[in-house]
Amino acid sequence: MKAIRIHEFGGPEVLKYEDVNEPQPGLGEIRIKIIAAGVNPIDWKIRRGLIGEVPLPMIVGLDVAGIVDAVGQGDVLFQPGEEVFAKVSIGQGGYTEYTVARSKEVARKPKSIGFIESAAIPTAGLAAWQSIFDIAGLEKGQSVLIHGAAGGVGTFAVQFAKWKGAYVIGTASEKNAEFLKSIGADEVIDYKNQRFEDLVSNVDVVLDTVGGDTFERSWSVLKPGGLLVTTVASILEGEPKKRGVRAKRVMTQSDGKELAQIAAIIDEQKIKPVVTNVFPLADARKAHEMSETLHTRGKIVLRVRDDSK
Ligand SMILES: NC(=O)c1ccc[n+]([C@@H]2O[C@H](COP(=O)([O-])OP(=O)(O)OC[C@H]3O[C@@H](n4cnc5c(N)ncnc54)[C@H](OP(=O)(O)O)[C@@H]3O)[C@@H](O)[C@H]2O)c1
Repeated sequence: MKAIRIHEFGGPEVLKYEDVNEPQPGLGEIRIKIIAAGVNPIDWKIRRGLIGEVPLPMIVGLDVAGIVDAVGQGDVLFQPGEEVFAKVSIGQGGYTEYTVARSKEVARKPKSIGFIESAAIPTAGLAAWQSIFDIAGLEKGQSVLIHGAAGGVGTFAVQFAKWKGAYVIGTASEKNAEFLKSIGADEVIDYKNQRFEDLVSNVDVVLDTVGGDTFERSWSVLKPGGLLVTTVASILEGEPKKRGVRAKRVMTQSDGKELAQIAAIIDEQKIKPVVTNVFPLADARKAHEMSETLHTRGKIVLRVRDDSK
C-alpha cells in the first residue's frame, strides 16, 4: 500500500510517498481502509522533530475516516464494512491506505456527512471538546473567549460553545469575522488591529490555541476563579494562583465515545466540520506547507481513495 512516511526529521521535503506493508490488526484492534485523512499541526510538529522521540521511519498522521476491513481477536466492537473515524496512535499512521486502531479509539462516522468531513474531526474536535467540556465544564449562559477561532480547533470550539448556549467571543483576522459569526460567534475581535484585553473582561473561560503573547495577555480578561485552557502554552507553576484564576493545558486523548457524541451532534445538524482544502494523499507536502502558514481556515484533509471504491 502507499503511505507518506518520514525517515528523518526536517522540512516538508522529508515526507516520502512510498510503498509499505499493510498492517495487521492485533488483539482488540481493527483495520481501517482509509478514505480520507485529516491534517493537524501536530503532524508537522512531529515531522520537524519537535515532539520528542518517535520511532523512524514513521507513517505521518493521526486522523482517519474509512471502512472497517478486518478485525483482530478479542472485543473489538466493530464489524467489517462499518463506516468509522478515529484518532489513531502516533506511529500507526493516518496518511496511508490502511491503518490499525484500537477499538476504543474508533467511532461510527456521522451519517449526514462524508468521509472527507469526518476525517477533519478527530484531533481538532476532541481537543475542542475536551477543553470546553471535560476541562472547563462550560455551561449555558457562561462566556468564553476563543483564540484562533478560525482554525481547526477553534471552528469546533466556537460551534460546541454556541451549541451549549454560551456567549462566544473569538479572535481572528478581519477576513474571518463574517465566517465566524455564521458558525456561531457572538463577537469577533480582529487581533491584528484590536487588543482583545481592551474589549473583553470577566469571561468564565478562555480557550487559547495560539500561545505566546496571546496566552500571556489572556490572564487579565478572566473573572476571578475563571479558567484559562491552552492547547499550546506552558503554564508556570504558581502563576494561576497568583492571578486568582485557574489554568490547564489540554493533552488531547483519543476517545471513541466522545467521537460518537460529536457525531451525534453533527447528525442533529447542530454543528459541522469546516473543511477548506483537500489534497490527494501524494500531495501531503503541499498540505503541510499550507498548515505551516498558521493561517488556514478550518481543516485541511487528504483524499486517500475515492469513496465509491
Ligand atoms: N495540546 C493538544 O492536545 C492539542 C490538540 C490540538 C491542537 N493543538 C495545537 O493547537 C494549535 C492550534 O491548532 P489548530 O489545529 O487549530 O491550528 P490551525 O488550524 O493551523 O490554526 C490556524 C488558525 O489560527 C489563527 N491564528 C493565527 N494567529 C492568530 C492570532 N495571533 N490570534 C488569533 N488567531 C490566530 C488563524 O486565523 P487567521 O488566519 O484569521 O489569522 C487560523 O485560522 C496548534 O499549535 C496545535 O498543535 C494542541
